[in-house]
Amino acid sequence: MTPKISKPQSTDVPRERSKKPKFIFQAPKGMHDLLPLDQPWWERIRRVLTDVAEFYNFTRIDTPILEDAALFERGVGAGTDIVEKEMYVLKTKGGDRLALRPEFTASIIRAYLEHGMSRLPQPTKLYYFGPVFRHENPQAGRYRQFYQAGFEIVGGESDPVYDAQVILTTCRFIEELKIKNLTVQVNTIGCKVCRQNYKRKLQLYYRSKISSSGKKGEGICKDCERRIETNPLRLLDCKTPSCQPIKEQAPSILDHLCTTCNNHFKQVLEFLDEIPLAYTLNPRLVRGLDYYNRTVFEVFAEGFDVALAGGGRYDYLGEMIGSRVIPAVGSSLGIERLIEVMKTVQIPLPRHKGKVFFVHIGELARKKSLPIIEEFRKAEIDIQEALGKDSLRAQLKVANDKHSPIALIFGQREAFEESIIVRDMRTGVQESVPIVKIVEEVKRRLSMKVDATPLKVAPKK
Ligand code: HAM
Repeated sequence: MTPKISKPQSTDVPRERSKKPKFIFQAPKGMHDLLPLDQPWWERIRRVLTDVAEFYNFTRIDTPILEDAALFERGVGAGTDIVEKEMYVLKTKGGDRLALRPEFTASIIRAYLEHGMSRLPQPTKLYYFGPVFRHENPQAGRYRQFYQAGFEIVGGESDPVYDAQVILTTCRFIEELKIKNLTVQVNTIGCKVCRQNYKRKLQLYYRSKISSSGKKGEGICKDCERRIETNPLRLLDCKTPSCQPIKEQAPSILDHLCTTCNNHFKQVLEFLDEIPLAYTLNPRLVRGLDYYNRTVFEVFAEGFDVALAGGGRYDYLGEMIGSRVIPAVGSSLGIERLIEVMKTVQIPLPRHKGKVFFVHIGELARKKSLPIIEEFRKAEIDIQEALGKDSLRAQLKVANDKHSPIALIFGQREAFEESIIVRDMRTGVQESVPIVKIVEEVKRRLSMKVDATPLKVAPKK
């Protein structure tokens, strides 16, 4: 069976909501808390994002969550679902019309222009991570507040190598999260000129498919009838079953490209052929934002029916928001979807290895523990403790679970003698060291390589 993305919820915390009679406040519909038990997933995503972005020379940008609503109306397109139906717009006390950003790309171009980034060496490669807002019908994999990460290459030439590089970076990021078997669907939607010609062909074709009887199930659906005039490319996005055979027979954009767009697309595919990446050509892929030209793409994980990432070239966006044509290409990824896939296919998170584990025995030792631990923090040595746990067994179990190579054992006798027992968890050997020398001793041991198989500690009371 095809695994589908399930509803957002922590896998670890039971949901109490349905049992309790009434809550005064709940998170708004389609929005969710990121609970402590889920934070390791988010932390993992942020780390991998930074590593991959820096490897491919992208630098981080953060833009405001609120923007002038007109930026998206002009950039994403007034007739798109995102702007027409899904944008959260508010009026400030000062009378400004602001929108909670429904995506990042328009903000990136706004910031690029506002800060004169074209004066930097071109192209400018930017990446980002943060929440976006769309008033959609919440369902599996579709929320009203969700997080996006993204990569944008802005400025320079409209060079196909950048289209391929954005696709490559997007896929590497997903693969670094250990999600395997990706498929990239790629298409081109041409430029202003060849697309106009194609749209006319599409309109002609679809007009001939309007049912003359007006009966439901005959001809195209009512939404498609409307789209013929308002947004003909979106006809190719229709999911209504009765429209599918009609869509299959529709004229293909690939037969209507101008020479420049045709060459551009050919080169993108040639670059993709050079890298180990599974892509398929989908001439029906159009995407739901108005700013695209030429290359568009979406990335899927095997067995999941929602896109993990989407993007494309958007050379006209600068012009659409009142400036000039700025060659640009980029992609965004849905973070909740990535995490749901990682959880569904049970990708383990890398375990954080604490270097040193501090074990206390008895109340006197516990009282004197904090300043010792502070010395390690000052020396920037990763030290963990379980000061809330009393039994030696429970503490050594935590040390074991954390795979700490060294345990420091501090009991009543050690507190009196101002010493501490250093136990090498890999060899089981332990010795007493004066407290004043403990940090140096641990540093020395951590820099040593011990050639022994890890010892399973069976803690005793
Ligand atoms: P988008 O396809 O609208 O593109 O969104 C990108 C990704 O965000 C999707 O592939 C999906 O993973 C995630 N996503 C979208 N809507 C939702 C939702 N309601 N709930 C959860 N996840 C969602 C853009 O936003 C463009 N700005 C991409 C781009 C960047 N194009 C050029 N540069």
